[in-house]
Amino acid sequence: MKIFVTRKIPQPGLDLLQRELELEINPENRVLTKEEIIKGMQGKDGLLCLLTDSVDKDVIYSESKLKMIASYAVGYDNIDVFAATKRGIPVSNTPGILTDATAEMAWALLFSVTRRIAEGDTFTRAGRFEGWDPMLMHGQDISNKTLGIIGAGRIGTSFALKSKGFSMDILYVDDKVNKILEQKLKAKKVDFYELLKASDFVSLHVSLNKETHHLIGEKELKMMKKTAVLINTSRGPVIDEQALVKALKERWIFGAGLDVYEYEPDISEELKKLDNVILQPHSASATIETRTKMAIMAAENMVAGLKGEIPPNCVNKEVFQKRPIR
Ligand code: DGY
Repeated sequence: MKIFVTRKIPQPGLDLLQRELELEINPENRVLTKEEIIKGMQGKDGLLCLLTDSVDKDVIYSESKLKMIASYAVGYDNIDVFAATKRGIPVSNTPGILTDATAEMAWALLFSVTRRIAEGDTFTRAGRFEGWDPMLMHGQDISNKTLGIIGAGRIGTSFALKSKGFSMDILYVDDKVNKILEQKLKAKKVDFYELLKASDFVSLHVSLNKETHHLIGEKELKMMKKTAVLINTSRGPVIDEQALVKALKERWIFGAGLDVYEYEPDISEELKKLDNVILQPHSASATIETRTKMAIMAAENMVAGLKGEIPPNCVNKEVFQKRPIR
């Protein structure tokens, strides 16, 4: 069987795929257009895609041989899973293995903004450090503060658990009670607005859907403490980027740490000019270990799916109710 890989992924994943399947890999290190993905898929049984690929209805219906879509990402808001399910095509993602790396990036951003690390680095390299200064670059304490987690799933839970050394009060918003957080950290499940008003740090860990699009806008930013720090390692459109620019410019909040953007890869020029925001290139899962595991997991899902088995990380298992499982 043949598959199309929309961009090179770490070699161990490709090796695994090559042992079982014939591969065509996009030779260029760039995001393909929808037309290019459709072209690459012609005559292929599987599509291995990335979160940057728009796998919509047109793509899903473009090749009649298509039997499996494996994504090299945990978030799959870029894939029309409904259309894939309708066509009986399993879709898989890479959950679990990037939990710690993403939670670590959220902490890195929290520290960088709160202790003004990037600003300090730029200042020092520019030769502006003239000796210890009692008034220089005051950030804020992190220990003994209130940490607000919006979305207490795998990543939100891991992020909260990593606060253990900092004696923090933990608040969270989620549909479900998170027993781990309540037992281990005495975390309190609260109302969304209560969390925004009470937290010193607000970290977003929700998936992107109609309900979470622009979850944080002007109204929400105005509710937050003037000293609050907002962290986003989830998906860009969860925050109204223009509202955030306004909030940061007018200092409604202390700062923000972002790994994701509303119109990724485009980032508001105004945001880039501000010194109270840290910007990362959607690299929360970018560690050697994690990206390698993601490649292997995506490959294992692809191979299983093309064998007619339920891929270990299938997000639409219902497709197998309609056909016999081998
Ligand atoms: C994912 O897999 O959804 C992450 O955003 C990758 O960094």
